[in-house]
Amino acid sequence: MNRVKVSLGERSYNILIGPGLLSKSGAIIKKLNIGRDAVVITNKVLRRAYGVTLKNSLNKSGISVKFELVPDSEKAKSSRTLLKVLNHIAAYDKKRSVFIIAFGGGVIGDLAGFVAASYKRGIPYVQIPTTLLAQVDSSVGGKVAIDLPAAKNLAGAFYQPKAVISDINVLMSLSPRQVCNGLAEIIKYGAIKDRALFAYLEKNFRLAAALDKKVLKTLIMRSVRIKARLVGEDEFDKKGKRMILNYGHTIGHAIEAASSYSNRYNHGEAIAIGMCVAADIACGLNLLKRADAERIERLIKRCGLPTKIEGLKFSSIYEAHLHDKKFAKAKNRFVLPCATGDVRIVEAVPDRVIVAAIKRRLLNLRKGLYICIP
Ligand SMILES: NC(=O)c1ccc[n+]([C@@H]2O[C@H](COP(=O)([O-])OP(=O)(O)OC[C@H]3O[C@@H](n4cnc5c(N)ncnc54)[C@H](O)[C@@H]3O)[C@@H](O)[C@H]2O)c1
Ligand SMILES: [Zn+2]
Repeated sequence: MNRVKVSLGERSYNILIGPGLLSKSGAIIKKLNIGRDAVVITNKVLRRAYGVTLKNSLNKSGISVKFELVPDSEKAKSSRTLLKVLNHIAAYDKKRSVFIIAFGGGVIGDLAGFVAASYKRGIPYVQIPTTLLAQVDSSVGGKVAIDLPAAKNLAGAFYQPKAVISDINVLMSLSPRQVCNGLAEIIKYGAIKDRALFAYLEKNFRLAAALDKKVLKTLIMRSVRIKARLVGEDEFDKKGKRMILNYGHTIGHAIEAASSYSNRYNHGEAIAIGMCVAADIACGLNLLKRADAERIERLIKRCGLPTKIEGLKFSSIYEAHLHDKKFAKAKNRFVLPCATGDVRIVEAVPDRVIVAAIKRRLLNLRKGLYICIP
């Protein structure tokens, strides 16, 4: 088992990574001393596949288990599900030693974390992430939220878990599409902070897609080390350090919004295109060499991710990108790559550069052609 610490004073916690951790989760959680009654927020798919292993492990350590099943998809991050789960916990919570386990992908992690943050103004919770995306990204850092009709993640909090337990074995049942989804965030980490990680994925993308455990462990470890460091420096996303984790997310979120958060683009696919657009913008501002932009695009393609936008209108993406949370005082703000493993935050990017970069991804250019805006 490997360990990465998120250093946040009294809110510090460990991220534990390794194969077979699910069956050890009872003993790990018992040591945290956070309660004896676990409400495991999960969905039917995960309960069917891994519920018995998790329950047996917790029971063996003297922890009682109540499964709370939520819908499988972004629909679970709704005010309706939140209230339903809170009411169920209130009815169950007799002994006052209840805590939450978020057992699922990013959707369940975000919802369950928000449940934990709001029930009695905060009860302890543990993340047991089950998708690659959740293991490398969403389970770490304490950003928890539900979606409102007006926008995604609009009601939320910063609320740190007591531990993150990432069992690599549970990733073996992921669909290829979900594996690619997680690889997109790993490309992001390489592109913003870690050239060696980027190069490692370039070398090992086939093994990663084939779920080679050794390769996955290296990718997860290196990714969460970066996230843990940035969260430790800027827990509440106020100092600009955490902002670089948003590389590819300005246009990525706009693509998700323009497709109404449907299954057309999952998060990783949308940010894959967003990273290409940001690289195009960086090229347009002469911040990035064309060869480096091509290198990012090549790795994205190799990881089975899209680099072009299909079936969406330019206007809906353009409109949606204007609502980016990073934009301040009427100025836009982008995280732009300036070399492999390095990014810069750039304000007031000229509109024509943004428009051209989005349009380039909408157009069906001849294969392999890559133009930089002068
Ligand atoms: N809080 C953060 O910092 C943060 C960061 C990134 C993304 N997010 C959020 O994460 C969400 C996306 O998370 P996701 O990509 O993990 O999607 P997800 O949670 O919807 O999971 C994707 C699918 O995989 C299935 N699944 C999960 N684990 C499985 C397993 N081990 N085997 C087989 N199937 C499994 C799920 O049932 C689901 O159908 C979005 O809501 C996004 O906003 C949050
Ligand atoms: Zn993301």
